Amino acid sequence: MSEKRILTENCGLIDPKDINTYLAKQGLQAWRKARKTMTPQQVIEEIKRAGLRGRGGAGFPCGLKWELAGRAEGEKKYLICNADEGEVGTFKDRFLIQNDPFSLLEGMAISAFAIGAEKAFIYLRAEYRYLLEGLRNALRQAEDSGLLEELDIEIREGAGAYICGEESALMNSIEGKRGEARFRPPFPPVNGLFGFPTIINNVETLANVPLIIRNGADWYSRMGTKESKGTKLFCVSGDVSRPGIYELEMGSSLKDLVIGLAGGEDVMMVQVGGSTGRVLPFSMIDIPLAYESVLGSGAVIVFDHSRDMVDFLYRTIEFLNEESCGLCTPCREGIECLIEVLDRLVNGEGVQGDLEILEVSCAPMASASLCGLGQSAPTPVRDSLQYFREAFAGRISQSVLLRSLKSIPSSGKPASYNQD
Ligand SMILES: Cc1cc2nc3c(=O)[nH]c(=O)nc-3n(C[C@H](O)[C@H](O)[C@H](O)COP(=O)(O)O)c2cc1C
Ligand code: SF4
Repeated sequence: MSEKRILTENCGLIDPKDINTYLAKQGLQAWRKARKTMTPQQVIEEIKRAGLRGRGGAGFPCGLKWELAGRAEGEKKYLICNADEGEVGTFKDRFLIQNDPFSLLEGMAISAFAIGAEKAFIYLRAEYRYLLEGLRNALRQAEDSGLLEELDIEIREGAGAYICGEESALMNSIEGKRGEARFRPPFPPVNGLFGFPTIINNVETLANVPLIIRNGADWYSRMGTKESKGTKLFCVSGDVSRPGIYELEMGSSLKDLVIGLAGGEDVMMVQVGGSTGRVLPFSMIDIPLAYESVLGSGAVIVFDHSRDMVDFLYRTIEFLNEESCGLCTPCREGIECLIEVLDRLVNGEGVQGDLEILEVSCAPMASASLCGLGQSAPTPVRDSLQYFREAFAGRISQSVLLRSLKSIPSSGKPASYNQD
């Protein structure tokens, strides 16, 4: 099993500080092709035919989103590159920005041309402040090369909130409002930033665009599966000997990635897609990595048998509890309820019925939360209980037993016997 490096092909070969090294690798050819030989609608059709789907996690068809924004009425239109990359275990966007910023900027220029935007933002994660200088330098060089003659790109820094990676909270953040999700509809392609039609795309999504325009939709769509075209960047971390970023054709197996490439051994569980992603036992290691099976942001966190599932789930939900914006009741109260029960379990105070409370709490969160955080927070809970139930049930039985032993008075009978 080997990688298929198309998106990361330039990484390590070009100098991210010097656009000339990018130009020597067919850089800006796609943009010239789009501007000189294609109409905005033809660009959109090409992206649609390629089958490019959003790499930020949700997998929404990119061309369709552009088409909606392109058709929407609006005095002006905006493009936003989502470089918030707050998802746990995800670090691929950082890699692209650090090693090949020009592909991202070229993709943004093509996208702006397709939807008719003259202003764009790059929303950069607060913790990536050290990338600012390199990104600003790349922007200056792109401007000098004429790439951005009709597009003004502004970098906006986040302030460290996970929820601000969610597209509607991100727009609020750019507008100077509280970082919390918006009610939808209206959706951003129709009514987004400052009320104007807006496209929000992930760094990896946009970096795919020059490849598609340059080589054609047919070339691109030959890679991958029926529903998932092209390649995907995966960020492998945790209990593996070779952690890092791997670019694989869509549909490759989790086993090839985790064991073949990253060197996982004694694998107990893999969390795919970040904090709200799937929790898969080793028995599912052959699953293909694709939108139609399991994918998400590209985070792949490996846990071996030395890890504690109860502790894992507690920490996952604790993170979501910390990061929920608290706007809607199902998420705010649901996560609170989950954390209360999990807190009992990790502290040896679990009681019979706790697992059922966890399960019951998940349903309203999944169906009625306002944004993806609350809607998908139940995923790790449900998976953990389905595939590792004995670890949770065992923890409760152990706690019940220990409590009953502690309550045995010197008479040798548990306290409850004395009360009978
Ligand atoms: C809580 C939450 C956090 C998110 N964080 C990110 C993020 O850091 N980066 C990102 O690209 N998408 C993130 N998303 C997804 C975005 O809302 C949005 O779907 C994405 O930026 C669209 O771009 P794409 O279609 O190219 O994937 C997040 C979603 C949720 C619900
Ligand atoms: S689901 Fe959670 S994070 Fe999203 S809007 Fe509701 S409270 Fe905020």
